[in-house]
This record gives sequence, C-alpha cells and structure tokens, in this order.
Amino acid sequence: MCGIVGYVGLQSALGILMEGLRRLEYRGYDSAGIAWLDNGEIHVLRAAGKLHNLQAQLPATHSHVGIGHTRWATHGKPEERNAHPHVDNQRRVAVVQNGIIENYRALRDELTAQGCVFTSDTDTEVIPHLVSLYLQQGHPFLEAMRLAVSRLEGAFAIAAIAADAPDEIVLARQQAPLVVGLGQGEFFCASDTAALISHTQAFLALENGELARLTPLGVELYTFAGQRVQRYPQRLTWSPLAVEKGGFKHYMLKEIHEQPAVLRQGLESHLIEGQIALGPVQELYAQVEHIHIVACGTSWHAGLVGKYLLEQIAQIPTHVYYASEFRYAPPPYLPRTLTIGVTQSGETADTLAALSLVASRTLTGTPWLLGITNRPDSTLGRLVPYLIDTRAGIEIGVAATKTFTAQVVAFYLLALDMAHQRGMIDQEKLELYLANLQKIPNHLEWILETQTPAIEQLAHQFQDVHHVIYLGRGINFPIALEGALKLKEISYIHAEGYPAGEMKHGPIALLDKNVPVVAIAMPGTVYEKTISNVQEARAREAQIIGVGTAANLEIPDLFQVNLTVPEVPELLSPFVTVLPLQLLAYYIAAQRGLDVDQPRNLAKSVTVE
Ligand code: AGP
Repeated sequence: MCGIVGYVGLQSALGILMEGLRRLEYRGYDSAGIAWLDNGEIHVLRAAGKLHNLQAQLPATHSHVGIGHTRWATHGKPEERNAHPHVDNQRRVAVVQNGIIENYRALRDELTAQGCVFTSDTDTEVIPHLVSLYLQQGHPFLEAMRLAVSRLEGAFAIAAIAADAPDEIVLARQQAPLVVGLGQGEFFCASDTAALISHTQAFLALENGELARLTPLGVELYTFAGQRVQRYPQRLTWSPLAVEKGGFKHYMLKEIHEQPAVLRQGLESHLIEGQIALGPVQELYAQVEHIHIVACGTSWHAGLVGKYLLEQIAQIPTHVYYASEFRYAPPPYLPRTLTIGVTQSGETADTLAALSLVASRTLTGTPWLLGITNRPDSTLGRLVPYLIDTRAGIEIGVAATKTFTAQVVAFYLLALDMAHQRGMIDQEKLELYLANLQKIPNHLEWILETQTPAIEQLAHQFQDVHHVIYLGRGINFPIALEGALKLKEISYIHAEGYPAGEMKHGPIALLDKNVPVVAIAMPGTVYEKTISNVQEARAREAQIIGVGTAANLEIPDLFQVNLTVPEVPELLSPFVTVLPLQLLAYYIAAQRGLDVDQPRNLAKSVTVE
C-alpha cells in the first residue's frame, strides 16, 4: 500500500527521500510527494503517477529534514491534489499517512466549522489541520501530535514535520507498519526496512499506540498516553543486494530463479543433524487437536497445500480461512487449536487482525499462534509467540513466487515433524521424505535450464487469449489456483483455477477452441482421474497445455504442449508444477510489455482492509 519515508540529520534530505521512495515502489502506488523544511518554511512537491514525474520537478536544495510518500489511493482519485504530504492552511505542518482514518468525515465537518479549508478528498488531510490547531493552542509539536492522534480512529502510520520544530520528525503508529532507522547523528523512518537498508541495518519498530520523536540527537519513544518507552533496536541480517535486480530484467524473474537457493537455504536452516528444527512450536505438537490457517492470496494457496500435508501426513484436521473472512466470522472457539498465519510481507492487515482475534480469545497462557513468514522483522514477527522464518528474504516483485515455495517448504517440515513426533511416521519414512525434499532444488534448476525456452515460446501464443482455465486435483488443486492468480495479476488475462473433477459441474460450459486449459497432471493417486477430466475439456476443442512428466506426451491427441517436469513423489509435486506456471505468467506479461513487478491496482503489502 502507501509507503512512508523520512530523514533528519546532516545530509541533504531530498536525495535520501527519493531513494527511499524508489525502494518502496515495489509496494505499489499511484502518486508520490515529499515535504521538507528550509529556513523555517515547509515546502511540498507532489506528482501523480510514477516517481520520475516527481523527480523531474525536484529543486536543488539542502534541507536536512523531510518526509516522503508513495500513495495507493483509498479516499480520492490518484491526482496531484490528493497525493501526500498534506498541509494545514497556514502551511505550518506537513503530514504523510499510511492507513485509513475511519472517523475522518466527522473530523472534517468539525474542522471545517472551525474555519479549516480542505483542498483534497483524502482522509489524511484532517491530520495536519488538527495538529495545527493544537500547535496554535501553544502545545509543543510532539504533544500536538499526541493530542491529534488521540482523536483518530482506524489504522494508520503517520510521519509529520512542523515549521516551528525545524529539526524534528514526529511519528505515530496504530495498526500500520512504521520503523525508525538509526544512523550516526541521523535518523530515518519508513513503512518498510527495504527503504532504508542501504543507509542502516539498525532498526526500531514502533508498536501500536506509540509515537516517536526523531531529531539529529536521537529517538524518543512514547505511548499515546504520553509515557516514555525504552526499547533496544534490532539488526537486520539481509544484505542491501537483496533489493537489487542482479542483472535480471525484472525482480519477479530474479525471484523465480532464486527458488532453488531459497529452498536449499530454508532446508539448511531447519534441518540440524538430520532432525527438523522448527523452534519452540515443537512444544505444542503433542497437544494440538486442530489446525486453523489464516492467510490471503498466494499465502492462502500455500495454506491449502499445508492443509493437504497436515491432514494426509500428520492426520490433523486442518481448516484454511481467508483472513478477511475469518476476522468477521470466526469459527466457534475450539480448544487445542493451533492457528497458523501465513504472510510474505508480515504486514497484511487482514491476517494480522485474524491472528489478534484468536489471541484475544485465548483465556490463559501463551496463545497458540504460529507465523510463517520470510519477514521475521515484521509486525507478524512481533505478534506471534511461535514463528517459522522461511529464510526466503525480502521479495520485491508484487507477484509472490519464491516466498510461496518457501512457505510450502515450511508446511512440509511442520507436517513431517508433527507426524514423526506424534508417531504417524517412523524415522525411516521421515528420512525418505527429507531425502526427496532435498532433491527438489536440483529439479527446479533442471526446469529453469531446460524448459524456459519452450515456456517463452508458448507465451507468444497467448497474445490474443482472453480467458484461461487452470485444472489440478488433490495437492495440485492449490497450484491450479496459484497459476491462475499469477496470470491474472500480472498479465490482466482472466484466469480461473478449478479442481479438475469439478469442471463438469458448470465451468465446462466456458470451454471452446479460444479458451486454453492448463492441466496439471502428475503421476500419483489422481493421475488417471485428471486425465479423464482433461479428455472432457479436449472434447470441447479447448487447447490443452499439460504440466507434468514426459509421460503426458505419450497420451495420444491430448496435450498440444506439455511443460515437462521431473517425476517426483506426488506430495512433493507442487514445487515442480508451480515453477512452469510462474514462468508462463511472467513471459506472457513481459511479452505484452506490462509492468511485471508493479502490476496495476496491486500492492505488495496490503496494510488496509
Ligand atoms: C501474490 O502474488 C499477491 N500479490 C497477493 O495475493 C498476496 O499473496 C496477498 O496479498 C497476501 O500477501 P501476504 O503474503 O504478504 O500476506
């Protein structure tokens, strides 16, 4: 969603702000702006569209204090007047905000009655007017911000500067991410550490209900009630190189290619002397009777694979919920339930809210909440008592790829570990599963090396396609959903994933020679059934693209094209079937000349409901 960046120190602020905004581009935005202080005056520059529109107007100035913002429109169209920062009528306060101020209409009416003139359609504009009124009443900047945020309802992260406080940035956080970066005689803030990683690896994350005051002399933290808070910073371990493209045309392509290494890294980190090591969550295994998984989008698909594994290997009844549905219609409380939140950003508002709801229903002891993420430094990392760090590192492309496969690895390890420790599988079987799992990175490398040209070629044939159906069964049904999601989000082609056996109950009516069907058909329990379902689609003249082993090519007149993958045990097949589908979506979108890494209307980190 929106991105925030801020700087106070001895260097020239504007360059640092612009670089920070560039680092936040991956989160998705439609306009951008900056505000800075110079000779006791606030200056604001805003532009609709991409960052180069803002860059083109940048003046030469050496201000040492400033804030910047990339906006993803919620209230008001993506026009310059709605872009942040917003200022009060005297231009004494400038504010950037990420989130939604739910009571902004009432505040706007109240402020208008007091003479404030609004120039945008945003919810954010109430904040500078409120802060300004408190400043006029004689409160210092920090106190004026504290009084202002106590009037706000909703989820927000705010950074503000004031003409009367020329060396300060004041921050506030309530249910939206905001971190402070610590330098020497200089301090930064951002909605994501990625914006600041080239300047510092030492970070302090604000908690909900906290304010921070940044000056060149240091950082002070306070609660919304005004009490001082002391907290040690954390050190980030990933390198600034993680946010570079590394020679690839797009981040998404780079991240697809990183998957073999990410899987190796995930396995190495969680296998110690041949034993699965997932940390403190292991203490719950013996007691767990049910598992609930909450997630959104691609992470929800990883959850569906997880359900299959937890039920089929560990025999634990598992439900997967869309976090956005769970939070308003949670299932009845079930004792001895482990709730797993899966999220690559660690900041998805719905997932965090669902987990918080579960925590609030825990009457005694530590809530049984397990997070699966590649961002242990995120809000999720601080919310849950049990965490599996997938070790995938930061992902920049909006379409999740390497974080998905890393989440799936986490589910394999969890299911195998629970199954083993609860006596569902013996040591020999566990070792066999693990040995096969460790071969997966090599299989992925084989696909990348040998199948990419054929996939690129196939992508050319999708130039005039408007609808695509993805079919899969069993453990590959979630992969059909994921393949379809990848295609629609970056190529804007309508795509649907279906369980292959469900086709004949309705969706088959969509098929004709203009609707290609991508059919995942891997050897295993449902292979023959899937082939029969694919025959039904073929009989409606649909073009069939197979994803499976070379054996698919031996079936007469069924697959026009087969994206060939190595034969692996059925339970491991999602790793090898999802990779060609990621590549196919990528090449279709790239050949259409689309903005693969920042597709329209989407954001990498969905921090609002
Ligand atoms: C994935 O390609 C999508 N961009 C999106 O569905 C994403 O998976 C979803 O928003 C959940 O994000 P999270 O993993 O950060 O919670």
